[in-house]
Amino acid sequence: MEIRDERHGDEDAIHALTAEAFQPMPYSGGTEPAIIRALRASGALTLSLVAVEDGAIVGHVAFSPVSIDGVQDGWFGLGPISVRADRRRQGIGRALIAEGLRRLAEDGARGCVLIGDPAVYRGSGFASGRFRYAGLDPRLVQHVVLRGEAPSGEITFAPAFDVAAED
Ligand SMILES: CC(C)(COP(=O)(O)OP(=O)(O)OC[C@H]1O[C@@H](n2cnc3c(N)ncnc32)[C@H](O)[C@@H]1OP(=O)(O)O)[C@@H](O)C(=O)NCCC(=O)NCCS
Repeated sequence: MEIRDERHGDEDAIHALTAEAFQPMPYSGGTEPAIIRALRASGALTLSLVAVEDGAIVGHVAFSPVSIDGVQDGWFGLGPISVRADRRRQGIGRALIAEGLRRLAEDGARGCVLIGDPAVYRGSGFASGRFRYAGLDPRLVQHVVLRGEAPSGEITFAPAFDVAAED
């Protein structure tokens, strides 16, 4: 399994993988594939990594800038993240996250936030309790500090996250 940056030509495979991964999920708004396209189109797709096996994309993760209490200062949001159903629970998600955090840290990022199940992200170093998002259960609002002191406050994701489902 290789993890690499997305390349021109990967867009449709990422779209299909994300659609398939989120479709059965009760927490899905159905907009995740459109969010990735909108992030890319608006220049907010800071990092888009794919996991490739035998030439097929079996995993993907996106990172984009976030604001904390309205201030954008080196914090990024992780997501959407998807692994093909038949390849889950074999460490691909964790490997994508690790490589993404490594790259963000290398580029000087202060930290990363996400909304998700703590059971999935705890092992990758994420913790809860510092940030807020849209009145959600604070346990779902997770962060990892990469550099310096962490702020606290309300997270705002890139405008691309407000996109409507496209198909
Ligand atoms: C979330 C997802 C990307 C995880 O990918 P994965 O390759 O299966 O993850 P990994 O095998 O690397 O596991 C990462 C951690 O999550 C845990 N985990 C994975 N699936 C889990 C599940 N369904 N319930 C609880 N924990 C889970 C693993 O035990 C592991 O924990 P550890 O790091 O403490 O050992 C994948 O399940 C997926 O594509 N889901 C559908 C889309 C989705 O819901 N995305 C996330 C929205 S927040």
